[in-house]
Amino acid sequence: MDFKLAPLPFAENALEPYISQRTVGIHYHKHHQGYMDKLDKALANDKRRALTLEEIVRGSDGDVFNNAAQVWNHDFYWRSIEPGSNAAPTAGPLLRQIEATLVPWTRCRSNCARSLRVSLVRAGGG
Ligand SMILES: [Fe+2]
Repeated sequence: MDFKLAPLPFAENALEPYISQRTVGIHYHKHHQGYMDKLDKALANDKRRALTLEEIVRGSDGDVFNNAAQVWNHDFYWRSIEPGSNAAPTAGPLLRQIEATLVPWTRCRSNCARSLRVSLVRAGGG
């Protein structure tokens, strides 16, 4: 794998006012970079360097697993959010499953937003 962080897919301040530039910077420059650096160091002379990140996660334990999994988690997080995206889904298996087993999309969205606000207040959003 390439032991370099991919650039963020958006500007660090692009998620404001929901996620601050400071928060994005901490997670990208400190957390994500830190996990990548520790993984790079842990695998300095290790044949697993030739594997993909997913293969390293699946085939490791201890510190290598923890750092590789955290790199994967942060990669996934950055790819899962999109600044300015406020559109409701109109189709797809996830929407069908939500509406078939939970509640209508608009209610699900408002419930999630309320839960997020509560968790941000209680946990500090980190
Ligand atoms: Fe983080």
